[in-house]
Amino acid sequence: MTVALELDDIQGIVARAYPDLRAACFLLLGVRDPVAAGAWLHALCDQVTSARSRPEATAVNLALTPGGLRALGQPLEAFATEFVQGMADVHRSRPLGDVGANDPSGWRWGGPATSPVHLALLLYAKDEPGLESLSGSLSAQLAANGLDLVVRLDTSDLDEVEHFGFRDGISQPLIEGLSKTGPASNTVKAGEFILGYPNEYGLYTDRPLVAPSEDPGSILPRDPAGSGQADLGRNGSYLVLRQLEQDVVGFWGFLEQATHGAGGAAGPGARRALAAKMVGRWPSGAPLVLAPDADDPSLGEANDFGYFTEDRGGTRCPIGAHIRRANPRDSLDPRPGSQASIDVGKRHRILRRGREYGPPISIEQLEAGDDGGLERGLYFLCLNANLARQFEFIQHTWVNNAKFSGLYDDPDPLVGARNGGRDTFTVQAEPVRSRVRGLPQFVTVKGGAYFFLPGIRAIRYLTTPRKRPTAR
Ligand code: HEM
Repeated sequence: MTVALELDDIQGIVARAYPDLRAACFLLLGVRDPVAAGAWLHALCDQVTSARSRPEATAVNLALTPGGLRALGQPLEAFATEFVQGMADVHRSRPLGDVGANDPSGWRWGGPATSPVHLALLLYAKDEPGLESLSGSLSAQLAANGLDLVVRLDTSDLDEVEHFGFRDGISQPLIEGLSKTGPASNTVKAGEFILGYPNEYGLYTDRPLVAPSEDPGSILPRDPAGSGQADLGRNGSYLVLRQLEQDVVGFWGFLEQATHGAGGAAGPGARRALAAKMVGRWPSGAPLVLAPDADDPSLGEANDFGYFTEDRGGTRCPIGAHIRRANPRDSLDPRPGSQASIDVGKRHRILRRGREYGPPISIEQLEAGDDGGLERGLYFLCLNANLARQFEFIQHTWVNNAKFSGLYDDPDPLVGARNGGRDTFTVQAEPVRSRVRGLPQFVTVKGGAYFFLPGIRAIRYLTTPRKRPTAR
């Protein structure tokens, strides 16, 4: 049975990526004065956009780090360990691939050497003037309300294309119970993304529950699983935010070198084809499984396909391609090609909500190998109910795993961390596969943090003055 979702309490970013709100910025804040900040955030609740409406002008969403919860007096015992430890924790860096150039010690924010981030205000507007007016009015109130701006992350609108030149944001899981419907293989239980609802195991994903005595005003709903506890997690989610710098000139320069045959440069067509093999889709978005030989923009939004029947050996879409490893669909054990395989995949899905930053690069700049000295990248945002089983699993076991699905030295060719110069990209083909060797790192982590994205009642609860020790 499909459960009814409490759309008025769920933050809007869970339900939609706000595609019509094309301007966005993320304000990362630190709490200086918990009392003043709590009061201001409490008042802000009325402005927080819920999943009920489809905003046409602006949207405001809000998330907190463990430091932010602590600053508001909220004990952390009930929250997930990986969240409490944080993305930059030394024990998480290795599995996340945050070593070498990705090491948190070099991050611009969220790392051990930078000012603590307590809150993220996610601001969206239909255009830049609308965003400036929204962010300007909120920013002007911060200092007087006990909050410091740690960093402002400005995004850029590349019209649904990421900086390497590929259409992005096509494949998303559909949340059961939300209005949009689609193939059962891509429809996932709400509890995989929204806390307080049954997940793909038929269970409630672990979430912060508090004693009813901690909620004397009964602001929070009661635990639907019947424990009698107040459900601080209900309608919330965990948000991953990572600043991923993209070396666009390095990416296309390497493809040129890799496709340079004995007879001279193989040309833009060969570069694009190899890049598409790395992504698993052509620049238009057409999946290689359905369009193996050439781009076909009419398939740009195609997403109803699997790998096992169509392309078991990877001769259409390489086994190590970014989309094939980030969501292997029906090719997982046990019994690839079966419903059981799809069911396993559903336990490792994420809702992607990222936005690009930095100016688009022109063809002339690319040909000259000159990025103008400007940084470009993706603010990778994703939502999931269980950080370890969803985002971290994908990142560690699939994206960064050089031995993914029988491969040998092949991390994700597009976004994976590298392993000291021996990284390869294998392109399965008949009669023999080919290998691209010496893959450089094209994506570097520049900052990141885990956040709790509470339900709107939970924000009210967290910002209601209570007598609590404010351990920092
Ligand atoms: C700068 C970094 C990244 C770039 C440029 C990038 C680019 C892309 C592109 C072009 C697509 C295909 C379009 C689509 O299906 O929506 C895609 C899909 C996807 N990416 Fe990424 N990505 C990046 C980082 C990541 C990371 C870090 C993860 C997860 C840890 C990830 C997970 C996914 C997933 C789950 C899909 C959908 C796969 C599917 O369902 O078929 N991406 N990405």
